[in-house]
Order: sequence, then C-alpha cells, then structure tokens
Amino acid sequence: MKSKTDIQSLYFKYVETTQKAADFNNAAALLDWDQEVNMPSGSATFRARQSASLAEYAHHLITDESYGKILQQLADTTFLSESQQANALLSLEDFHKHKKLPASFINKLTNQASISFQAWTKAKKKNQFSLFYPELEKMIALKRQQCDLYGFQTHPYDALLDDYDRGITTTRLDEIFGEVKTHLSNLLEKILQKPQVEDDFLYQAFDKENQFSLSIEILKSIGFNFEEGRQDYSEHPFTTSFSPQDVRITTRAEQKNFKGLIWSSIHEGGHALYEQGLPTDAYGLPLGMPASLSIHESQSRLWENCVGRSAAFLKYFFPLAKQKFSTEFEQVDISMIYKAVNKVQPSLIRTEADELTYHFHVLIRYEIEKALIAGEIQCKDLPTVWNELYNKYLKVVVPNDTIGVLQDVHWSHGSFGYFPTYSLGSFYAVQFFEAAKKENPTIEQDIQIGNFQLLLQWLRQKVHRYGRRYSSDELSKLATGSELNFSLFMKYAREKYSAIYGFDVN
Ligand code: CO
Repeated sequence: MKSKTDIQSLYFKYVETTQKAADFNNAAALLDWDQEVNMPSGSATFRARQSASLAEYAHHLITDESYGKILQQLADTTFLSESQQANALLSLEDFHKHKKLPASFINKLTNQASISFQAWTKAKKKNQFSLFYPELEKMIALKRQQCDLYGFQTHPYDALLDDYDRGITTTRLDEIFGEVKTHLSNLLEKILQKPQVEDDFLYQAFDKENQFSLSIEILKSIGFNFEEGRQDYSEHPFTTSFSPQDVRITTRAEQKNFKGLIWSSIHEGGHALYEQGLPTDAYGLPLGMPASLSIHESQSRLWENCVGRSAAFLKYFFPLAKQKFSTEFEQVDISMIYKAVNKVQPSLIRTEADELTYHFHVLIRYEIEKALIAGEIQCKDLPTVWNELYNKYLKVVVPNDTIGVLQDVHWSHGSFGYFPTYSLGSFYAVQFFEAAKKENPTIEQDIQIGNFQLLLQWLRQKVHRYGRRYSSDELSKLATGSELNFSLFMKYAREKYSAIYGFDVN
C-alpha cells in the first residue's frame, strides 16, 4: 500500500514524463510548421528525419513499461484529486492503445505514408490514378491490419474513427448521415429550384496585402492573441500549436477570390482560439489537450459559419472591407454580400464547398472509407465509385481524377476516419452557438458592433477549459443540455437559407 506522499511523488513523475514527451512532440510540430511556412525547398530530407526522431523519442517515453506501471498505480489509488485522476486515467487509456501497435507496425505505417504521399502528389499532378493506387492499396491493407490490432465490436472502421473522436461509431454516423441524406437533400433541392444569388463581385482583383491586413484586424477583434500566436502564409491553411501560448495559423491569398482568405482565416482563427483557451496548467497532459477533432472543428466552423457568414457579422465586417476595397465594393450592399458569401451550389471540390453541400462531400468519403476498410470495394475501382457518388449526391459530373478522387491528401497519409469529424464539427458548432445565444441573448447584437467577448467567454467556459476531460457528446451534453442533435443544424439551415433563397421554411 502506498502512502499519499508516495502517490503524489509518483504523480509528479508521471507529469514530468508526459510533459517531456509533449516538449518533444511540440518541437517536432514547430519543425513541421517551419516546413510548410519557411523552409527552403531543398531541405526536406533531413527535416523529415529530424521531426521523425523527435516524435519517436516522445513515443518511446510514453510507451515504456515503467511509465505504464506508474499509470497503473495511479489508476488504482484514491489519493489523487479529481483532475489528477482524470489525467492519469486518460493517459493509461492512451498507453494501452499505443501498446496495441507494435513499433515494427508503426514503422511500416510511417514509411508507407511517406511513399503513398509521394505517389499521390505525382498522380494528382499528372491526373493519373494508376500512379497512386498500388501504394494506396498497401496503405489500406495496413489500416485494416490496424483495425485488427486495435480491436472493434461491430465494424472495423470503428477502430479507426476512435483515433479522431473517442467513442464515435459507424452505427452513430449511419444515423447522422442518414438524416443528411433525407433532410439536407430535401433542403438542397428546394434551394436549387430558386434563382441563384449573384456573387460575381467577389471575383474581382483584390489586393492580397489588403486582404491579409483585413484578416488580422478580424482575428484581433474575435480575440486571437497575437502576443501568443501569429498568422503566416502557406499552401494549405492550417493551425498548429506548441503550447497555449504559441499558436500558429496560416492562410492563403487568392487575388481573384474574396471568399478565400478572410473566411479561411476566421476558420483557423476558431481553431486557434480553442488552442489558446486550453488550460496552461495542464500543459502536455490530457486535460490540456483538445477534446477531439470533432470538437476542434466545431470551434472553427462556429466562427467561420455561424458567426462569419451571419448577417450580424457582416454588419460589422462589411464597412471595414469597404474601407479597404472601396472601388471593388462600390455597388455592393450588405444584403448582397450576405447572399454572396452564402451561395449554395453543388461543386467538385470539398474545400471550396458551401456550408450545406459540404456535408455531401464528407458523406461520399465516409461511405467510401467504410466500404474500403470492410473490403467491400476494391482500390482500383475508386475513380468509378467516386464519380458515381458525386453524380448521385451532388448531381455533378467529375471531369478528371485530379479534381475528383485525387483531390484530398488524407488517404495518402492513412488518415481514414478523419473526414466525418468535419461534418460532426459543423453540427456541434450550430448546437454550441444556439446554446450560447440562449444564455446570452445579446450575443447577436454584440457581433454587429464587433464585440465577441461574451461568445468567446462562453466557449472558454463551456468547452475550452475542460481539455480532454469529456468525450465530444459528454461535452455537448454539459454545454448545451444534449448530445449531438442534427435537427438543430437542420433548423438553422432551413431558416437561414429559406430567407436567402426566398421560399417557405416548411
Ligand atoms: Co478545420
């Protein structure tokens, strides 16, 4: 039997090791950020091994048997405080999960990811799926092996989903996407029967630096702390963080598309506010980590869509935009820009999709991944399957694989199970936003004058400060009173888009 003092010193040892692993992982993340933002093009080879070495060392620390023993002892004691116990139990869960994958398997996976990624890059550039699929096939075989190593109850894909959102299953996703297929399809059909909104004015020449400085202004006003973070350019926008006190976001400027930089910047800004809001005293520990990728995405989507594409926000934002782009927006008023940034149109590219058709892009990937992992479809048939599904759900014809089945990087990395979090995040976003407004009825008026304090405080209080303590649905229940409820998203979508496109809500 260990004394309370013994246990506290064991806990201290646990914290020390876990935070050291976080240091190495965060240093690796900084190298990765640099690779995307600053690194000269010829420096990739050694950079890859440097960041792999750091990650490997971190992994070694938290999979060592002695670390597991400490965790087991901490899990069995009653001498820990509630949050100490939560940290120890979550770390023990992680430990067991990590142990299920032998080092040799992780090596294979890492190597295959790098080979598949190179094959994908080439295939996409040359519009030749055949250059990618042999490597993708190997990757899928490894992912199926991973499902067996992890173990699962109902569907092998569940094992992979769990990496991105603890506890989410295909059973639950079938339910949710089932509703997408009926209700959201219905709404989309109604919208497409109406005359399309005008948005030509978004595609003039907009000075890139002005776009960037406008985005900085917006980020400041929503609460992004530039003393502890920054925004740079990269090819694909992303957020990364090395601690809650060093959060980096990136964006991409396109001169001829006003919709690009600003809203991608608000999106990443939402991710960043979450990272900056995680408790510093739990640095590197589970309670200092984001709850799940779905919850992470809920934060970005909330700011990008619920806030950034709302009429209230545009009342504040558009006059600022007009100051920078007075000629371009001379003939444009708030109602025009509101409709334009909310234009709904089925398209080919997921990352450019509007807030409604987006979920059909995700649904398609979800159906394909599930079938691939179950061995129900063959890798070589992917282009055909892909094109058929795009035709079925979005009624679009895919002209080539580069902007079809080869458009996303995820599969080359082996990130199977990631896509659904994009949709779940969007649905949680609406649920959080509605709850925040209910508790603080002035939020919308505040947004009109560029005051985002109340909303941010609500998110800090209800979501950010808990780290990984709760699963996505537990957190949602605590913050909003119920688990994920897709009908709230539908209600929001119906009300918003029936007004924009001019039809009856029912
Ligand atoms: Co995101």
